[in-house]
Amino acid sequence: MSENKHTSHVAIAIDGPAASGKSTVARRLAQRLGLIMINTGAMYRAIAWTTIQKHVDAADARAVIAMLGGVEITCGVNDGGSTILIDGVDPGDALREDPVNARVSKVAAIPEVRDLLVAKQRDYLALGSLVMEGRDIGSVVFPDTPYKIYIDASEEVRLARRSAEGLADVVSQRDAEDSKRKTSPLIVADGATVIDSSDMDIDQVVEVALDTLQSQGLKI
Ligand code: DC
Repeated sequence: MSENKHTSHVAIAIDGPAASGKSTVARRLAQRLGLIMINTGAMYRAIAWTTIQKHVDAADARAVIAMLGGVEITCGVNDGGSTILIDGVDPGDALREDPVNARVSKVAAIPEVRDLLVAKQRDYLALGSLVMEGRDIGSVVFPDTPYKIYIDASEEVRLARRSAEGLADVVSQRDAEDSKRKTSPLIVADGATVIDSSDMDIDQVVEVALDTLQSQGLKI
């Protein structure tokens, strides 16, 4: 099962647009397979949250890069899932609130932010085999892993899922920004299998994902 030149650990890449259900599926897959689950969106969200705390314009790349030089970003794992601390502080639920939603695609478009976070994402593989979800996991973070899934859903379904969670999110605007940015845009990675979850419930998506991983060679 060794797909990484440094370790025998395996990376399962789960990518897709906002509110496609990929976080829930990734979490369920990690539980079923006994793997660590890494939420990379939370890492970009934590940087967006920091710009708010420090009164930095998230669209000003130079200011964001300068800000990063002065903060300590600590990525870890707790209870099987990823954690992130900024100068020792856990931003918690604030990561999913409107001010962060409005800024996160802007900081995620800055190449230096991506370089910093991609390095931290790759470091997680030293801890164990993992399921990692995001936008560029199969294309950039772990391009060599054979285990790649892209979870999609119609825009209508994705908006309905977000509002069912009681969250107003600028889903369409974030998707447009995430897909058109120059560095590591949201794409279906080479070798990824697309699962359209629009007409499936979560249990069905998890079963299809497990079948897909098996057909990609994962021993389950
Ligand atoms: O998965 P999410 O919706 O919480 O991600 C928040 C934002 O972070 C998303 O709009 C784009 C960015 N992101 C990214 O650019 N690359 C990733 N691997 C994960 C998230």
